[in-house]
Amino acid sequence: MTRMDALDPIAELKATAARPFSQAMAMPPAIYTSEAVCAAEKDRIFARDWICVGRASRLAKPGDYLTYDLAGQPVIVLRDKAGEIRAMSNVCLHRMSTLLTGTGRRKVITCPYHAWMYDLDGSLIDASFMDRNECFHREGMKLPAIRCEVWLGWIFVTLSPEAEPVAARLAKLAEEIAPFGMADYVEFFREEHVWDTNWKVLAENFMESYHLPACHAATIGGVSNIADFDLPEGEPAYNIHFISKDPKFRLACAHPSNTTLTGEWRTRNAIFSVYPSLMITVTPGYFWYLSMQPVTAGQVHIIFGGGFSPDFAADPEAESLIAEVKALLDAVNVEDRGCTERVFRGVSSRLAAAGPMSHLERPLYDFARYLAERL
Ligand code: FES
Ligand SMILES: [Fe+2]
Repeated sequence: MTRMDALDPIAELKATAARPFSQAMAMPPAIYTSEAVCAAEKDRIFARDWICVGRASRLAKPGDYLTYDLAGQPVIVLRDKAGEIRAMSNVCLHRMSTLLTGTGRRKVITCPYHAWMYDLDGSLIDASFMDRNECFHREGMKLPAIRCEVWLGWIFVTLSPEAEPVAARLAKLAEEIAPFGMADYVEFFREEHVWDTNWKVLAENFMESYHLPACHAATIGGVSNIADFDLPEGEPAYNIHFISKDPKFRLACAHPSNTTLTGEWRTRNAIFSVYPSLMITVTPGYFWYLSMQPVTAGQVHIIFGGGFSPDFAADPEAESLIAEVKALLDAVNVEDRGCTERVFRGVSSRLAAAGPMSHLERPLYDFARYLAERL
Protein backbone atom coordinates (compact mmCIF):
# COMPACT_ATOMS: atom_id res chain seq x y z
CA MET A 1 0.00 0.00 0.00
CA THR A 2 1.42 3.40 -0.92
CA ARG A 3 1.15 6.46 1.22
CA MET A 4 -1.57 7.79 -1.08
CA ASP A 5 -3.85 4.81 -0.54
CA ALA A 6 -3.25 4.91 3.19
CA LEU A 7 -4.55 8.45 3.69
CA ASP A 8 -7.73 10.18 2.68
CA PRO A 9 -6.49 13.18 0.68
CA ILE A 10 -9.86 14.97 0.83
CA ALA A 11 -9.92 14.75 4.63
CA GLU A 12 -6.34 16.09 4.65
CA LEU A 13 -7.38 18.93 2.32
CA LYS A 14 -10.25 19.87 4.63
CA ALA A 15 -7.81 20.07 7.55
CA THR A 16 -5.50 22.32 5.49
CA ALA A 17 -8.42 24.55 4.44
CA ALA A 18 -9.58 24.93 8.05
CA ARG A 19 -6.30 26.59 9.11
CA PRO A 20 -6.27 30.36 9.61
CA PHE A 21 -4.56 32.32 6.82
CA SER A 22 -1.70 33.26 9.16
CA GLN A 23 -0.85 29.53 9.28
CA ALA A 24 -1.57 28.70 5.62
CA MET A 25 0.00 25.55 4.21
CA ALA A 26 0.14 24.16 0.66
CA MET A 27 -2.40 21.45 -0.16
CA PRO A 28 -1.38 17.85 0.68
CA PRO A 29 0.59 16.09 -2.09
CA ALA A 30 -1.98 13.32 -2.62
CA ILE A 31 -4.68 15.85 -3.53
CA TYR A 32 -2.72 16.35 -6.76
CA THR A 33 -1.77 12.75 -7.51
CA SER A 34 -4.76 10.62 -6.49
CA GLU A 35 -6.90 9.31 -9.38
CA ALA A 36 -9.77 8.91 -6.89
CA VAL A 37 -9.59 12.65 -6.15
CA CYS A 38 -9.48 13.36 -9.89
CA ALA A 39 -12.63 11.26 -10.42
CA ALA A 40 -14.35 13.09 -7.55
CA GLU A 41 -13.35 16.43 -9.07
CA LYS A 42 -14.83 15.50 -12.46
CA ASP A 43 -18.05 14.44 -10.79
CA ARG A 44 -18.46 17.10 -8.11
CA ILE A 45 -16.78 20.09 -9.77
CA PHE A 46 -16.46 19.82 -13.55
CA ALA A 47 -19.88 18.20 -14.11
CA ARG A 48 -21.54 20.82 -11.86
CA ASP A 49 -19.78 24.16 -12.21
CA TRP A 50 -19.56 26.61 -15.10
CA ILE A 51 -16.65 25.81 -17.42
CA CYS A 52 -15.36 28.30 -19.99
CA VAL A 53 -14.95 27.16 -23.59
CA GLY A 54 -13.53 30.41 -24.99
CA ARG A 55 -14.53 33.80 -26.34
CA ALA A 56 -17.85 34.48 -28.06
CA SER A 57 -16.12 36.65 -30.69
CA ARG A 58 -14.45 33.46 -31.96
CA LEU A 59 -17.93 32.31 -33.11
CA ALA A 60 -18.47 35.40 -35.24
CA LYS A 61 -21.00 34.18 -37.84
CA PRO A 62 -24.11 31.96 -37.72
CA GLY A 63 -23.01 28.35 -38.00
CA ASP A 64 -19.57 28.94 -36.44
CA TYR A 65 -19.03 26.19 -33.90
CA LEU A 66 -16.55 24.71 -31.49
CA THR A 67 -16.62 21.36 -29.74
CA TYR A 68 -15.66 20.58 -26.19
CA ASP A 69 -15.63 17.58 -23.88
CA LEU A 70 -17.35 18.70 -20.68
CA ALA A 71 -16.69 16.14 -17.93
CA GLY A 72 -17.05 13.35 -20.49
CA GLN A 73 -20.06 14.89 -22.27
CA PRO A 74 -19.28 15.92 -25.88
CA VAL A 75 -20.71 19.41 -26.44
CA ILE A 76 -21.28 21.60 -29.50
CA VAL A 77 -21.22 25.36 -28.90
CA LEU A 78 -22.36 27.40 -31.88
CA ARG A 79 -23.85 30.66 -33.05
CA ASP A 80 -27.33 29.91 -34.34
CA LYS A 81 -29.22 31.53 -37.21
CA ALA A 82 -30.67 34.15 -34.88
CA GLY A 83 -27.15 35.12 -33.79
CA GLU A 84 -27.41 33.57 -30.32
CA ILE A 85 -24.70 31.42 -28.79
CA ARG A 86 -26.11 28.06 -27.75
CA ALA A 87 -24.82 24.68 -26.64
CA MET A 88 -26.16 21.19 -27.18
CA SER A 89 -25.17 17.57 -26.88
CA ASN A 90 -22.73 16.49 -29.59
CA VAL A 91 -24.24 12.97 -29.66
CA CYS A 92 -26.48 11.72 -32.48
CA LEU A 93 -30.06 10.66 -31.68
CA HIS A 94 -29.68 7.55 -33.87
CA ARG A 95 -26.93 5.19 -32.69
CA MET A 96 -25.14 7.83 -30.62
CA SER A 97 -22.11 8.70 -32.70
CA THR A 98 -20.48 12.02 -31.89
CA LEU A 99 -21.34 14.57 -34.58
CA LEU A 100 -18.83 17.42 -34.98
CA THR A 101 -15.14 17.64 -34.17
CA GLY A 102 -12.78 20.59 -33.72
CA THR A 103 -14.03 23.98 -34.84
CA GLY A 104 -15.52 25.29 -38.07
CA ARG A 105 -18.66 26.60 -39.77
CA ARG A 106 -21.74 24.58 -40.80
CA LYS A 107 -25.16 25.38 -42.24
CA VAL A 108 -26.50 22.10 -40.85
CA ILE A 109 -25.00 19.38 -38.65
CA THR A 110 -24.72 16.06 -40.46
CA CYS A 111 -23.85 12.90 -38.57
CA PRO A 112 -20.74 11.29 -40.09
CA TYR A 113 -22.20 7.79 -39.51
CA HIS A 114 -25.59 7.53 -41.33
CA ALA A 115 -26.04 11.17 -42.28
CA TRP A 116 -28.94 12.15 -40.05
CA MET A 117 -29.11 15.90 -40.38
CA TYR A 118 -29.77 18.54 -37.70
CA ASP A 119 -30.58 22.23 -37.82
CA LEU A 120 -28.40 24.70 -35.89
CA ASP A 121 -30.99 24.69 -33.09
CA GLY A 122 -30.47 20.92 -32.73
CA SER A 123 -33.75 19.84 -34.43
CA LEU A 124 -33.55 16.73 -36.58
CA ILE A 125 -34.39 17.82 -40.13
CA ASP A 126 -33.62 14.74 -42.21
CA ALA A 127 -33.08 10.99 -41.78
CA SER A 128 -33.25 8.66 -44.77
CA PHE A 129 -34.85 5.18 -44.88
CA MET A 130 -36.59 5.66 -41.55
CA ASP A 131 -40.21 5.71 -42.84
CA ARG A 132 -40.92 2.03 -42.07
CA ASN A 133 -40.09 2.31 -38.38
CA GLU A 134 -43.27 3.13 -36.48
CA CYS A 135 -41.32 4.48 -33.53
CA PHE A 136 -39.60 7.15 -35.59
CA HIS A 137 -41.21 10.59 -35.42
CA ARG A 138 -38.84 13.20 -36.79
CA GLU A 139 -40.81 16.13 -35.44
CA GLY A 140 -39.85 16.78 -31.88
CA MET A 141 -36.45 15.03 -32.12
CA LYS A 142 -33.83 17.47 -30.98
CA LEU A 143 -30.30 17.30 -29.58
CA PRO A 144 -30.52 17.96 -25.83
CA ALA A 145 -29.72 21.59 -24.99
CA ILE A 146 -26.88 22.33 -22.58
CA ARG A 147 -26.90 25.47 -20.44
CA CYS A 148 -24.69 28.13 -21.96
CA GLU A 149 -24.17 31.76 -20.90
CA VAL A 150 -21.96 34.56 -22.19
CA TRP A 151 -20.40 36.92 -19.62
CA LEU A 152 -18.10 39.79 -20.70
CA GLY A 153 -17.46 37.90 -23.92
CA TRP A 154 -16.62 34.58 -22.20
CA ILE A 155 -18.71 31.52 -23.10
CA PHE A 156 -19.53 29.24 -20.16
CA VAL A 157 -21.31 25.89 -20.23
CA THR A 158 -22.55 23.68 -17.42
CA LEU A 159 -24.22 20.29 -17.12
CA SER A 160 -25.96 21.41 -13.94
CA PRO A 161 -29.55 22.60 -14.06
CA GLU A 162 -29.03 24.22 -10.66
CA ALA A 163 -25.83 26.24 -11.11
CA GLU A 164 -26.40 29.90 -10.28
CA PRO A 165 -26.39 32.09 -13.46
CA VAL A 166 -22.87 33.29 -14.32
CA ALA A 167 -23.70 37.00 -14.24
CA ALA A 168 -25.09 36.68 -10.72
CA ARG A 169 -22.22 34.54 -9.53
CA LEU A 170 -19.62 36.97 -10.91
CA ALA A 171 -21.42 40.28 -10.35
CA LYS A 172 -18.81 41.58 -7.92
CA LEU A 173 -15.95 40.55 -10.20
CA ALA A 174 -17.57 42.40 -13.11
CA GLU A 175 -17.51 45.57 -10.99
CA GLU A 176 -13.89 45.08 -9.93
CA ILE A 177 -12.64 44.83 -13.49
CA ALA A 178 -15.18 47.17 -15.14
CA PRO A 179 -12.59 49.84 -16.15
CA PHE A 180 -10.97 47.44 -18.65
CA GLY A 181 -14.17 46.98 -20.69
CA MET A 182 -13.16 43.36 -21.24
CA ALA A 183 -16.30 42.42 -23.22
CA ASP A 184 -14.80 44.30 -26.19
CA TYR A 185 -11.35 42.70 -26.09
CA VAL A 186 -10.52 40.88 -29.31
CA GLU A 187 -9.13 37.36 -29.29
CA PHE A 188 -6.39 36.68 -31.83
CA PHE A 189 -5.26 33.19 -30.93
CA ARG A 190 -6.77 30.07 -29.36
CA GLU A 191 -4.87 26.81 -28.96
CA GLU A 192 -5.39 23.52 -27.13
CA HIS A 193 -2.65 21.68 -25.27
CA VAL A 194 -2.15 18.84 -22.80
CA TRP A 195 0.53 19.28 -20.12
CA ASP A 196 1.93 16.67 -17.74
CA THR A 197 0.80 18.17 -14.49
CA ASN A 198 -2.25 18.23 -12.27
CA TRP A 199 -4.80 20.89 -13.19
CA LYS A 200 -4.64 22.40 -9.69
CA VAL A 201 -0.86 22.84 -9.87
CA LEU A 202 -1.38 24.91 -13.01
CA ALA A 203 -4.33 26.80 -11.50
CA GLU A 204 -2.28 27.67 -8.42
CA ASN A 205 0.65 28.73 -10.56
CA PHE A 206 -1.61 31.18 -12.36
CA MET A 207 -3.09 32.53 -9.12
CA GLU A 208 0.11 33.73 -7.52
CA SER A 209 2.66 36.22 -8.77
CA TYR A 210 5.20 35.19 -6.12
CA HIS A 211 6.87 33.02 -8.79
CA LEU A 212 7.35 35.85 -11.30
CA PRO A 213 10.89 36.96 -10.34
CA ALA A 214 12.39 33.43 -10.33
CA CYS A 215 10.34 31.31 -12.72
CA HIS A 216 10.01 34.17 -15.22
CA ALA A 217 13.43 35.77 -14.75
CA ALA A 218 14.07 35.55 -18.50
CA THR A 219 10.77 37.16 -19.58
CA ILE A 220 8.33 39.15 -17.41
CA GLY A 221 10.01 38.70 -14.03
CA GLY A 222 11.68 42.10 -14.10
CA VAL A 223 8.69 44.26 -15.09
CA SER A 224 6.48 43.58 -12.06
CA ASN A 225 7.14 44.72 -8.54
CA ILE A 226 5.83 41.93 -6.36
CA ALA A 227 6.09 43.94 -3.15
CA ASP A 228 3.34 46.21 -4.55
CA PHE A 229 0.83 43.43 -4.87
CA ASP A 230 -2.67 44.15 -3.78
CA LEU A 231 -4.14 40.85 -2.53
CA PRO A 232 -7.76 41.12 -1.52
CA GLU A 233 -9.47 38.21 0.22
CA GLY A 234 -11.07 35.78 -2.21
CA GLU A 235 -14.78 35.54 -2.97
CA PRO A 236 -16.77 32.26 -3.11
CA ALA A 237 -16.64 32.05 -6.92
CA TYR A 238 -13.27 33.65 -7.76
CA ASN A 239 -10.07 35.25 -6.55
CA ILE A 240 -8.29 38.26 -7.97
CA HIS A 241 -5.11 40.24 -7.49
CA PHE A 242 -3.75 43.32 -9.16
CA ILE A 243 -0.19 44.20 -10.07
CA SER A 244 1.16 47.32 -11.69
CA LYS A 245 3.42 47.08 -14.68
CA ASP A 246 6.48 49.13 -15.53
CA PRO A 247 5.26 51.65 -18.18
CA LYS A 248 8.25 50.54 -20.27
CA PHE A 249 6.27 47.35 -20.90
CA ARG A 250 3.90 49.30 -23.18
CA LEU A 251 1.77 46.32 -24.27
CA ALA A 252 0.61 45.79 -20.68
CA CYS A 253 -0.23 49.49 -20.21
CA ALA A 254 -2.87 51.76 -21.71
CA HIS A 255 -2.46 52.61 -25.39
CA PRO A 256 -1.69 56.33 -25.99
CA SER A 257 -5.07 56.63 -27.76
CA ASN A 258 -6.96 55.25 -24.74
CA THR A 259 -9.12 57.83 -22.99
CA THR A 260 -11.14 55.59 -20.65
CA LEU A 261 -8.43 54.43 -18.24
CA THR A 262 -7.11 56.94 -15.75
CA GLY A 263 -4.47 57.08 -13.02
CA GLU A 264 -3.24 53.72 -11.74
CA TRP A 265 -5.60 51.90 -14.08
CA ARG A 266 -3.32 52.81 -17.01
CA THR A 267 -0.64 50.44 -15.74
CA ARG A 268 -2.78 48.09 -13.66
CA ASN A 269 -3.06 44.40 -14.56
CA ALA A 270 -5.70 42.10 -13.06
CA ILE A 271 -4.96 38.41 -12.56
CA PHE A 272 -8.02 36.42 -11.64
CA SER A 273 -9.36 32.89 -11.43
CA VAL A 274 -12.99 32.04 -11.94
CA TYR A 275 -13.49 28.73 -10.15
CA PRO A 276 -12.90 26.08 -10.92
CA SER A 277 -10.62 26.51 -13.89
CA LEU A 278 -10.71 29.75 -15.89
CA MET A 279 -7.55 31.80 -15.35
CA ILE A 280 -7.39 35.28 -16.91
CA THR A 281 -4.78 38.02 -17.04
CA VAL A 282 -6.20 41.27 -18.34
CA THR A 283 -4.08 44.36 -18.93
CA PRO A 284 -4.93 47.66 -20.59
CA GLY A 285 -3.16 46.33 -23.70
CA TYR A 286 -3.50 42.56 -24.00
CA PHE A 287 -5.25 39.67 -22.26
CA TRP A 288 -4.63 35.98 -22.10
CA TYR A 289 -6.29 33.01 -20.47
CA LEU A 290 -6.19 29.33 -19.70
CA SER A 291 -9.34 27.27 -19.32
CA MET A 292 -8.52 23.84 -17.96
CA GLN A 293 -9.96 20.41 -17.27
CA PRO A 294 -8.22 17.38 -15.83
CA VAL A 295 -7.58 14.49 -18.23
CA THR A 296 -6.09 12.34 -15.46
CA ALA A 297 -4.54 13.33 -12.15
CA GLY A 298 -1.25 13.84 -13.99
CA GLN A 299 -2.50 15.50 -17.18
CA VAL A 300 -4.39 18.70 -17.81
CA HIS A 301 -6.18 19.81 -20.99
CA ILE A 302 -5.76 23.52 -21.62
CA ILE A 303 -7.46 26.02 -23.88
CA PHE A 304 -4.85 28.79 -24.21
CA GLY A 305 -6.00 32.01 -25.83
CA GLY A 306 -5.42 35.73 -25.85
CA GLY A 307 -5.73 39.00 -27.68
CA PHE A 308 -5.87 42.78 -27.46
CA SER A 309 -7.92 45.58 -26.03
CA PRO A 310 -9.79 47.46 -28.79
CA ASP A 311 -7.17 50.29 -28.67
CA PHE A 312 -4.30 47.96 -29.44
CA ALA A 313 -6.36 45.95 -31.93
CA ALA A 314 -6.95 49.22 -33.83
CA ASP A 315 -3.28 50.24 -33.77
CA PRO A 316 -1.79 50.50 -37.30
CA GLU A 317 1.00 48.21 -36.10
CA ALA A 318 -1.40 45.65 -34.60
CA GLU A 319 0.00 42.82 -36.73
CA SER A 320 3.53 43.15 -35.45
CA LEU A 321 2.34 43.86 -31.89
CA ILE A 322 0.30 40.66 -31.99
CA ALA A 323 3.40 38.73 -33.01
CA GLU A 324 5.31 40.39 -30.17
CA VAL A 325 2.69 39.49 -27.53
CA LYS A 326 2.29 35.94 -28.82
CA ALA A 327 6.05 35.36 -28.74
CA LEU A 328 6.17 36.69 -25.18
CA LEU A 329 3.22 34.59 -23.99
CA ASP A 330 4.70 31.48 -25.60
CA ALA A 331 8.00 32.10 -23.80
CA VAL A 332 6.18 32.69 -20.49
CA ASN A 333 4.19 29.50 -21.03
CA VAL A 334 7.34 27.46 -21.58
CA GLU A 335 8.56 28.74 -18.21
CA ASP A 336 5.23 27.98 -16.50
CA ARG A 337 5.12 24.55 -18.08
CA GLY A 338 8.58 23.82 -16.69
CA CYS A 339 7.62 25.04 -13.20
CA THR A 340 4.31 23.18 -13.05
CA GLU A 341 5.62 19.90 -14.48
CA ARG A 342 8.47 20.05 -11.94
CA VAL A 343 5.92 20.55 -9.15
CA PHE A 344 3.99 17.52 -10.36
CA ARG A 345 7.12 15.36 -10.29
CA GLY A 346 7.77 16.72 -6.79
CA VAL A 347 4.30 16.12 -5.35
CA SER A 348 4.44 12.58 -6.78
CA SER A 349 7.54 11.75 -4.74
CA ARG A 350 7.66 9.76 -1.51
CA LEU A 351 9.29 12.51 0.52
CA ALA A 352 6.97 15.30 -0.67
CA ALA A 353 5.37 17.28 2.17
CA ALA A 354 3.25 20.43 2.00
CA GLY A 355 5.13 23.54 3.10
CA PRO A 356 3.99 26.90 4.52
CA MET A 357 2.84 29.61 2.10
CA SER A 358 3.69 33.32 1.75
CA HIS A 359 1.11 36.06 2.21
CA LEU A 360 1.63 36.60 -1.55
CA GLU A 361 -0.06 33.23 -2.08
CA ARG A 362 -3.36 34.36 -0.57
CA PRO A 363 -5.42 33.22 -3.62
CA LEU A 364 -4.18 29.63 -3.14
CA TYR A 365 -5.50 29.64 0.40
CA ASP A 366 -8.91 30.72 -0.93
CA PHE A 367 -8.79 28.13 -3.74
CA ALA A 368 -8.10 25.33 -1.24
CA ARG A 369 -11.16 26.41 0.72
CA TYR A 370 -13.30 26.35 -2.44
CA LEU A 371 -12.05 22.84 -3.26
CA ALA A 372 -12.57 21.56 0.27
CA GLU A 373 -16.13 22.82 0.16
CA ARG A 374 -16.90 21.25 -3.25
CA LEU A 375 -15.24 17.91 -2.50
S1 FES B 1 -25.36 7.41 -35.46
FE1 FES B 1 -25.79 9.32 -36.35
S2 FES B 1 -26.85 8.86 -38.11
FE2 FES B 1 -26.47 6.93 -37.24
FE1 LIG C 1 3.80 32.10 -14.47
